[in-house]
Amino acid sequence: MEHSFWHSKWQNNEIGFHEPKGNALLVKYADTLLGCDSDLASEHRIFVPLCGKTRDIGWLLSKGASVVGAELSETAVQQLFEELGETPEISSTSKGKVYSKGELTIFVGDIFALTAQDIGLVTGVYDRAALVALPDGLREKYSTHLVSLTNNAPQLVISFEYDQSVMTGPPFSVDENTVSTLYSQNYHISLLERSTLEGGLKRKVAADNLVFHLQPAT
Ligand SMILES: C[S@@+](CC[C@H](N)C(=O)[O-])C[C@H]1O[C@@H](n2cnc3c(N)ncnc32)[C@H](O)[C@@H]1O
Repeated sequence: MEHSFWHSKWQNNEIGFHEPKGNALLVKYADTLLGCDSDLASEHRIFVPLCGKTRDIGWLLSKGASVVGAELSETAVQQLFEELGETPEISSTSKGKVYSKGELTIFVGDIFALTAQDIGLVTGVYDRAALVALPDGLREKYSTHLVSLTNNAPQLVISFEYDQSVMTGPPFSVDENTVSTLYSQNYHISLLERSTLEGGLKRKVAADNLVFHLQPAT
C-alpha cells in the first residue's frame, strides 16, 4: 500500500483494524513470548512493527516489558500516547521523529528506513495486523527487514486466513505456507492456534485467526 493510503485512513478515522479492548490472543500467548508466569517480563524489550495505536502496547507495558514500536502515522502515535495518558518527549532524528516516555519508544515513519542500530536490542517481536497489512509484493522485503532489524528475535505473529478471491485486503490472507516461505530460513515455526474469527472479516468473509510462534533457528 502507498503511504498515502494509511495516512488517509488515520486522517479519516477509518481504523476498523484497531481493537478498543486489545487482542485476546496476545493475552493468551504472551507467556510464550514474555514468560509472564515468572517475573521475566521486565527483562524483555518487545518490538511492535506497524503498531498503530494498539492497546496491546499498554498491556505489554503493564506486564513490565519495555516496548519499541514503528508507525508511519504521527496521528496514530499522538493518539497512542493520549490514550495511555502519557505526555511523550519528542525528538527529531535523521530517521524522523521519535516519541518516548519511560519504557515506551515509538519511531514515527517508514519501518524500512530503520536499522537495528536505531531500535536497539529487542528480545521479541509482536506482529499483529502488520504482516497481514502488507500486500504480497512487500511481504518478503518486510520479513527480511524485520529479521535484520531485530537480529532474528523470537516472534509472536497473529494473522488471518481467508479466501482472498472474496475480498481484497488489507488485511490480506497470510496462511501457514506463506509464513513458512517467509520465515523458515531463520526460524522454527509453530502454529499455536487456528480459530474461527467470530463474525468473519469485516462481516464479508469467513476467516480464521492464526497464531504463530517463531523461534530463532540458529
Ligand atoms: C492494519 S494497521 C495495524 C495497527 C496495529 N498493529 C494494530 O493491531 O492495531 C497497520 C498500521 O501500519 C502502519 N504502516 C503501514 N505501512 C507502514 C510502514 N511502511 N512503516 C510503518 N508503519 C506503517 C499504518 O499506518 C497502520 O497504522
